[in-house]
Amino acid sequence: MTIRVLLLGFGSVGRNFCRLLEKQEALLEKEERILLAGLATRGRGSLWSDDGIPVSSLLEAERQTGRVDALSLAGCKKGLPALDMVREGEFDILAECTSGNLKAMESEPGFSHIRAAFERKKPVVTTNKAVAALRFEDIEILSSQAGVPWHFDGTVVVGAPFLDYARRTIVDARILGFEGTLSATCNYVLDCLMEGASLDQALMDAQRSGMAESDPALDIDGWDSAAKLMIVAKALMGMPCPALGEFPVKGIRGLTRAVLAEARRSGGKIRLLARITRSAGGIDLSVGPEVLLPSHPLSLLFGPTNGAVILTENLGEICLSGTGSSPAQAAFALWQDIRRIARGEKR
Ligand SMILES: NC(=O)c1ccc[n+]([C@@H]2O[C@H](COP(=O)([O-])OP(=O)(O)OC[C@H]3O[C@@H](n4cnc5c(N)ncnc54)[C@H](OP(=O)(O)O)[C@@H]3O)[C@@H](O)[C@H]2O)c1
Repeated sequence: MTIRVLLLGFGSVGRNFCRLLEKQEALLEKEERILLAGLATRGRGSLWSDDGIPVSSLLEAERQTGRVDALSLAGCKKGLPALDMVREGEFDILAECTSGNLKAMESEPGFSHIRAAFERKKPVVTTNKAVAALRFEDIEILSSQAGVPWHFDGTVVVGAPFLDYARRTIVDARILGFEGTLSATCNYVLDCLMEGASLDQALMDAQRSGMAESDPALDIDGWDSAAKLMIVAKALMGMPCPALGEFPVKGIRGLTRAVLAEARRSGGKIRLLARITRSAGGIDLSVGPEVLLPSHPLSLLFGPTNGAVILTENLGEICLSGTGSSPAQAAFALWQDIRRIARGEKR
């Protein structure tokens, strides 16, 4: 069986996804194949090939020139806009890996791409946090109307795949609440602050190691965790979720010496905690720095490691953790989502 994928976005995630395609023989059964039919970026060209784009040559051409359309390929089409490919291209799954703008609460271009795919009854996999957080309900409706699935495991804490576990393994456990540390950058920076570093020093270190973005504001100010928390809430709680801006979000700037001293005295940790609790009216969400006592399971995690505590009615408290939140891990989540669709899994 050959699956034809249309990939929108060739940034860190798209590139890593193509590296997985390069070694697909090691990951798939003999008769299976995932073929890159089309690829589009915002300003670095686009490519379409009915026979499939050779990914090793693509990666090399892009590495040398910065453009995806630098690849010479007989019979391929260049310059098609992303949306035209979704509307007219012959593909089986849309992999939406463009970037939205959480700060501006902007879910485009991702949402238009996904809607256009559903109009043609094409399943969607995405790592795009902004579109999943801001348009989750709309996408659920469109997916159900089209009768095809969408998967979004690559949007949240890909190094600790609790979304997968909570949605597909403990399906009847009835989730009552959630606490998680969802930003590796914040975990790392907070540990540095506890050791006496300044925020600027800690951020510089995090950027040098490749963990923090060049503009780490979304992480540090809590918006990245807030977006991930919304996706978790919408995916796991099955209840209306407050919109971004309607629940408290506090970042880790301006933590006082007194708070850091309290954390040190407690013997625990300080973490940017993302929390979901059930309330009389539905669910409450919050993101903010908290001192975690040594008895809290998340205080046992070191450095960038992310973790989640899922409180369930039927299994009690479950804790999962994992290191990293890298583009390679996001690409692997995308890969697994494609495989789920190939296996006919609906969620
Ligand atoms: N990086 C991670 O570790 C990670 C982890 C989980 C989730 N995510 C999410 O996954 C998505 C991709 O992340 P990334 O790190 O690969 O982002 P990135 O490096 O910023 O790449 C984004 C890609 O989207 C393309 N793009 C933007 N607007 C487009 C449009 N209108 N049409 C076609 N292509 C368009 C960009 O084109 P140009 O190349 O021309 O700019 C670029 O290739 C983001 O939504 C991010 O939030 C990332």
